[in-house]
Amino acid sequence: MMLRSFIAVELPEGIQQAISLCTARLKAVLPGRLVRWVAPQNIHLTLQFLGEVSPADLDRLADALQAETASHAGFEGQVSGLGIFPDRYRPRVLWVGMQAPDDLPTLQRGVQAVTTRLGFPADRHAFSPHLTIGRVNQDAERAEIPKIQPALQKADPGLLGSFIVESIHIFKSDLRPSGPIYTRLHTLPLSAGQAPQAE
Ligand code: 2AM
Repeated sequence: MMLRSFIAVELPEGIQQAISLCTARLKAVLPGRLVRWVAPQNIHLTLQFLGEVSPADLDRLADALQAETASHAGFEGQVSGLGIFPDRYRPRVLWVGMQAPDDLPTLQRGVQAVTTRLGFPADRHAFSPHLTIGRVNQDAERAEIPKIQPALQKADPGLLGSFIVESIHIFKSDLRPSGPIYTRLHTLPLSAGQAPQAE
């Protein structure tokens, strides 16, 4: 059995709610079939997509990641801004930004060093921290595409909130017709500088 998996930071409920208010504003002004919106509980920050992995390999990965995350301390991240990948002329992914200068790129590099050592291919793209809120339908009316950028600009909420990143998780993704179901499989705490837990 293989599990479609990825490594990600989970968002607190308050941030998910703030994002869904922002998404609601976008839904109100964009044509219905233009974008497939991500369910609020499914919004997360992907550090690395892994693809299909066996449970035994995920266990090995979790052990190696835990050794890595134990050398990182928790940090504060800010969630702000709306954007488009790859660009406004060919919009595919709508996202909310996440910023934690130094800490977040350092964590992602640490994660990628571990996955590379264990033989997982690195992402093709440079790390660009984002929370995907919607994906443009590939069969969208071409005439509707130019409506996206101005709608994003108008709905841009500035700072949506901030939160402390205390751990990362390995998730599995079950693709269903009604949308993917993400389940946490392993939790890796950013535990540097913390007192060891009493037994
Ligand atoms: P995205 O948000 O930029 O689409 C689960 O699918 C998570 O893994 C998503 O957050 C997705 O990032 C990320 N991901 C990265 N590369 C992927 C790929 N090749 N296929 C599917 N998901 C990918």
